[in-house]
Amino acid sequence: MNIADAKANLVSKGFLDVDTDSHVDLFREIEQLKQQKNAIILAHYYQEPDIQDIADYIGDSLGLAKQAAQTDASIILFAGVHFMAETAKILNPTKKVLLPDLKAGCSLADSAPTELFQQFKAQHPDHLVISYINCTAEIKALSDIICTSGNAGKIIDSVPENTPILFVPDKNLGAYLNKKTGRNMLLWNGACQVHEIFSVEKITRLKIRHPEAKVLAHPECEESVLALADFIGSTTQLLKYSHSDSAHAYIVATETGILYQMQKENPNKIFIPAPPNNNCACNDCPYMKLNTLEKVYNALLYELPEIHMDENLRLAARQPLDRMMEISKAAGLIG
Ligand code: 13P
Ligand code: SF4
Repeated sequence: MNIADAKANLVSKGFLDVDTDSHVDLFREIEQLKQQKNAIILAHYYQEPDIQDIADYIGDSLGLAKQAAQTDASIILFAGVHFMAETAKILNPTKKVLLPDLKAGCSLADSAPTELFQQFKAQHPDHLVISYINCTAEIKALSDIICTSGNAGKIIDSVPENTPILFVPDKNLGAYLNKKTGRNMLLWNGACQVHEIFSVEKITRLKIRHPEAKVLAHPECEESVLALADFIGSTTQLLKYSHSDSAHAYIVATETGILYQMQKENPNKIFIPAPPNNNCACNDCPYMKLNTLEKVYNALLYELPEIHMDENLRLAARQPLDRMMEISKAAGLIG
């Protein structure tokens, strides 16, 4: 095996973090690779600032799915987690989809193992299955419609009122949506390890110290945290609110990556990360943060690690995603 093959082998397994030449200007090299290879970088707001800066598009799960569906690039590098790159592959079977670190998983997606969910679904044959996009391709394939935090209300409202719904995998988002839509969806018992650990006590103390600050929260948070919020929404919706709202300070209860864009778009406002129930002052997703600029560079250079998917699984997972896209378009949520 030559050196290039050996390196590519290590990159594909997620072992090689950085090219040996530390003088490489990663920003310039990545830009060149993107042009040479007709590649696009799609990044979630939870990525580190350098990756957000080099991305062609930054967004929440809904915006990223829309971009993935529309791009004419030959290579999609997904700076996010595995289920997001999988979604891009489901929508783009002929394109090469790269994920800088294959170990970038998701605790929420992991909380719904396929076999257990299959059994649960079989116990409720009359229920329509709505799955939050933060799930594996296998769970998507068992679903009727996919939703994201940015369109879930509209997706649920599109289902006739007398149709019982089974919602998977996020119990916190599901409970929030039950309240918002007046439905009584049956909820799978899953949760996101990042959004589940915000501390009500510490947020309350922050509110006392900063009485002028509004609380912004993602609907994956627990009900007790959402009860403290002035505004609840997907990452894009939180960002838009922080821009259009007139307050000067915000306590932000979601992954800290979003604070980078909030601060960039609103240099005169103050953004305080909501503290979790541990010794940290802020709350990073350990999976999202596995991606680094060096891994983005290596992934583009070697075109690895690549997402592969069985074609039957892809076709089955595509249908509920297409339903989501149709409903979102009809509701004016995506163009
Ligand atoms: P959105 O991108 O829909 O805001 O979801 C946040 C999240 O947890 C992604 O992993
Ligand atoms: Fe999954 Fe939560 Fe991380 Fe999002 S923030 S990728 S839901 S673990």
